[in-house]
Amino acid sequence: MISLHINGQTHQVDVPEDMPLLWVLRDVLGLTGTKFGCGIAQCGACTVHVEGEAVRSCLYPVGALGEKPVTTIEAVGRTPAGAKVQKAWLENEVVQCGYCQSGQIMSAAALLTQTPKPTDADIDAAMSGNICRCGTYVRIRDAIHSAAEA
Ligand code: FES
Ligand code: FES
Repeated sequence: MISLHINGQTHQVDVPEDMPLLWVLRDVLGLTGTKFGCGIAQCGACTVHVEGEAVRSCLYPVGALGEKPVTTIEAVGRTPAGAKVQKAWLENEVVQCGYCQSGQIMSAAALLTQTPKPTDADIDAAMSGNICRCGTYVRIRDAIHSAAEA
C-alpha cells in the first residue's frame, strides 16, 4: 500500500511503486481531469503540482512522492494563483478543444505562484513544455498577464 496526499485528502492505493502518477490519478482514483497525451514528458497534458511545482505525471513514479502533496486540476482553483488563472482563462476565452488545457492551467498556476508578475520571456520559458494542437498560445499568454494583474 502507498499513502498519497492528493488535493488535501489522503488515499491508500495498492499499486506498484513504479506506476506513473498519471495512471494512479486517472485509473485508480478516478481523477480524470488530468490528461494523457504523449506519455513521454513531451506534451504537458498530464501536468500536476507536486509541492506546488509543475511536474509531468506521466513519468513521475508514484513511489517517489513520499509525503509530498499533489494538487490536480480538480483542486487548483482552491489555490490563490489557480483561482486567478481559471478566471482569466474564462475571461480570455482561451479554450478551444480543451484537451491540453488542464496541463496549461497547472503550468500557469505554478508560474504565477513562483513569479507573480511574469514577463513574456518568463511565460514562454514556463509554458514551452505545454503543447496545444489548437494553437491557443497567444490567448494563454494574454490570460496569464490578466491573472497576474488581477
Ligand atoms: S502525457 Fe505527460 S507530458 Fe505528455
Ligand atoms: S485547446 Fe485543443 S489542444 Fe489545446
